[in-house]
Amino acid sequence: MEKEVLFDTLWKDYVTQTPSASKINELLKQHGENIKNDHIALRTVNLPEVGIDKLAVLFKQVGYVEKDSYYFSEKKLIAKHFEHATDLSAPKVFISELILEEFSKSLQSTVRSFVNKIPKGILELDALLVSGRTWGTVSYKTYERLRSESEYGAWLYVYGFCANHFTINVNELESIADMQEMNLFLKTNSFKMNASGGEIKGNSDLMLEQSSILADKMEVEFVEGEYLIPSCYYEFAKRYNQPNGELFRGFIANSADKIFESTDLVLQH
Ligand code: NI
Repeated sequence: MEKEVLFDTLWKDYVTQTPSASKINELLKQHGENIKNDHIALRTVNLPEVGIDKLAVLFKQVGYVEKDSYYFSEKKLIAKHFEHATDLSAPKVFISELILEEFSKSLQSTVRSFVNKIPKGILELDALLVSGRTWGTVSYKTYERLRSESEYGAWLYVYGFCANHFTINVNELESIADMQEMNLFLKTNSFKMNASGGEIKGNSDLMLEQSSILADKMEVEFVEGEYLIPSCYYEFAKRYNQPNGELFRGFIANSADKIFESTDLVLQH
């Protein structure tokens, strides 16, 4: 598989749950923009059959290599980022996983039980990346219980495996100079920003600035009925040169920590 096919598959799946991303692309295209992605992000848990290393297999097959890793103590997550070995313009891939053993026994057994329900074929065929939720109907009561410990875990229970976000590479935009202009463009077009930790996370000294809209919301059918639940969001990133003159390609844990909250129910309007 070519990497373009892989990203196209992830994108097509992602926009079904993130209509705002298609709308923003349309608006930017009307301004003559040719949109490039800085990175995409995926979420999982640290069980061997679905962990970061498992999700990374397909990316490695299309030429990606592992770079840095990150730890989020408050959210109890680790993450790794991957870059294409030769094509520096290819989107970076950021994969995070929940550290199960840092949570209650109840959360651990809930997560193990839904992961155990993933059909073996999906695990064997590496179809996991865009498999979504393959453990049947979810319970709102379970969702709320997970949410009391981890918004991330609750999100994973409802949506399963998909791209959690794509990220527009602001450096490559012609008509938008910086993150202030990017956010103004989004707000002018009535998109709601994630303001946790400020609308712009990071700064030029950290060599990375990021912002994101709040996740779209989907009517999700639970055992108890339908509820409106945050789905996925669109992110925006501008990178700066390192002292050696090369563009910074990593991530800033403090900023990513706040970006994770774009799918929190409490942040939703
Ligand atoms: Ni991101």
